[in-house]
Amino acid sequence: MKEIIILIRPEKLEDIKKILDDINCGGMTLSTVMGCGTQKGTTMEDGDVVNELKGFKTSINLLPKVRVEVVVEDHKVETIIDKVRETCVTGHVGDGKIFIRNIEDVIRIRTGERGIKAL
Ligand SMILES: Nc1ncnc2c1ncn2[C@@H]1O[C@H](COP(=O)(O)OP(=O)(O)OP(=O)(O)O)[C@@H](O)[C@H]1O
Ligand SMILES: [Mg+2]
Repeated sequence: MKEIIILIRPEKLEDIKKILDDINCGGMTLSTVMGCGTQKGTTMEDGDVVNELKGFKTSINLLPKVRVEVVVEDHKVETIIDKVRETCVTGHVGDGKIFIRNIEDVIRIRTGERGIKAL
């Protein structure tokens, strides 16, 4: 099993929910977060260049993002990556990022089921 952590622009949330529903994932966890990537939260419009023109050096700026966590069987991972990219690519910085990590086990508290059966 793998955990997929998807950080995206908030306006893409409904599309991502549909993708995860379509692949029949067992559940998902969502949070709204603040974050930055390599541009440290600056954009073409309000980034370093503009701030330097104003006479000060910008510090890290955090932008609102949505974080979706989903744990799935290994074979679903590449499909999710492809569909998320299809939906979220605008070509502009800040489109988001996907992190993937191994999950050792899952336990459904109600029944005691473990592993894939518990997803
Ligand atoms: N290395 C990182 N560690 C933790 N979170 C990150 C990391 N990189 C990006 N994020 C999270 O992902 C969000 C989106 O990042 P973003 O799309 O700007 O990545 P990027 O690497 O700067 O790519 P791009 O150049 O396309 O903007 C950030 O707001 C932050 O929440
Ligand atoms: Mg970025």
